[in-house]
Amino acid sequence: MRGNDFAQHGATGIQVCVIGAGYVGLTIAAGLASLGHTVICTDTSESRIRRLRLGRVPFLEEGLPDVVTEMQAMERLTFSSSNISAAADADFVFLCVPTPPKAGGAADLRHVLDVANQIGPFLKPGAVVVTKSTVPVGTGDLVAGRLSRTDIAVVANPEFLAEGTALRDFFRPDRIVIGSNSLQAANAVASLYSGLECDVIVTDIRTAELIKYASNAYLATRLSFINSLADLCEAAGADIRDVARGMGSDRRIGPAFLRPGPGWGGSCFPKDTRALIRIAADHGVDLPLVRSAVQINNDRKSAMVRRILTEIPDGHPQPTIAMWGLTYKAGTDDLRDSPAVAMVNDLLAAGAAVQVFDPTQHERIDGVVICHDMYTACQGAHVLVVATEWPQFADADLSLVRKIMAGQVVVDTRNLLNAAAVHSAGLRYRGVGVPSKVSDAARLLETVREPLAVMSS
Ligand code: UDX
Repeated sequence: MRGNDFAQHGATGIQVCVIGAGYVGLTIAAGLASLGHTVICTDTSESRIRRLRLGRVPFLEEGLPDVVTEMQAMERLTFSSSNISAAADADFVFLCVPTPPKAGGAADLRHVLDVANQIGPFLKPGAVVVTKSTVPVGTGDLVAGRLSRTDIAVVANPEFLAEGTALRDFFRPDRIVIGSNSLQAANAVASLYSGLECDVIVTDIRTAELIKYASNAYLATRLSFINSLADLCEAAGADIRDVARGMGSDRRIGPAFLRPGPGWGGSCFPKDTRALIRIAADHGVDLPLVRSAVQINNDRKSAMVRRILTEIPDGHPQPTIAMWGLTYKAGTDDLRDSPAVAMVNDLLAAGAAVQVFDPTQHERIDGVVICHDMYTACQGAHVLVVATEWPQFADADLSLVRKIMAGQVVVDTRNLLNAAAVHSAGLRYRGVGVPSKVSDAARLLETVREPLAVMSS
């Protein structure tokens, strides 16, 4: 998807300040500028601001560099390292600063509250402050307290942007959630998005804050469920891909987020599930389902490593593992809470040598050989692990892989490769939740065929 795939809107004359130029802030800033608003986006990193002025986006996000460049050329989008001067002229100030986890899992609100403290005295009368950052229930009240201004409304407007599709998610949202204790302020924020077609859900501020956590925790729980079922499929000789298809075609369930894998990661699910458990505990409520989802996910990565280690030829003193992919999913260069990184660390701790290829990673990582192409990573490897679903891995020359590997096993934690093609290249295939041997599949087919044969005789 390119930047100019999106319709541009005429200028609205509305001034927006976006504080924080991470992937959320920058996407929101570029998106709101495309909708016709005049946007200034700030960041405390001077070097990031300098690069952004040259149109250089500091992370991989499809289409974003085009829109940032285009909006700057149209003078709809500017960048600044001063929160105060940028916020002073704004009708709306969006807080898009990080809320990293503290030791016990609670979201650290320091950045959000510091910014509120800082800009409060300088905001123009009647401005609206919008929290985009994922914040615990009740943060809206804390922000209002820090702003210390009775003429400024605070609105929660959580983001649902997934990395790699953030721009598309901005322009084609499933819904826009707006929480405020002032209907006037909620409507004003809703009008910023006019031009986007979707439901707008207006709630009180606490409910909006909770919707974000509830959505991410539900999706994470669904993935832990499907990953557990993948284990059952392997034990019972069933195929998780068909189980997911069969479940997902029920309209009440739906097909998304049913792909099993090495566990969920990224900058949101791990942080937000832990934060939700903590928020609930602070209110005296236990969320055993979410706690189990987190536990299943933690165990998942070690289970994948055990699976890889069992495939190493007996008694090999220092096995070599080739790993394709390091990011937590395809389409991003983000390594935060990546299951692949967790697997690498465990493999190193188990005494293996690890050779990694990921199309977005070129920097040195301690103890790991970073290769410049997928075949070099396979050189002399005893096991090949597919850790991220980069599409180019599915088109690999598997005969070449077979030739250069020392071993013969492919552990595909994403079910990305074609098992039959792997087998015909002379390699052994282990996916997740799929029959590991061709004979398993054949046996399964036979049990289906038998009754048919009886019926036709
Ligand atoms: C998520 C939410 O989707 C987004 O709305 C929120 O605002 C931020 O967090 P993101 O972390 O970018 O976005 O990635 P997402 O595509 O949701 O995937 C999260 C994790 O689930 C990844 O580790 C991914 O590999 C995994 N996943 C996703 C699966 O294992 N199987 C699936 O079917 C889908």
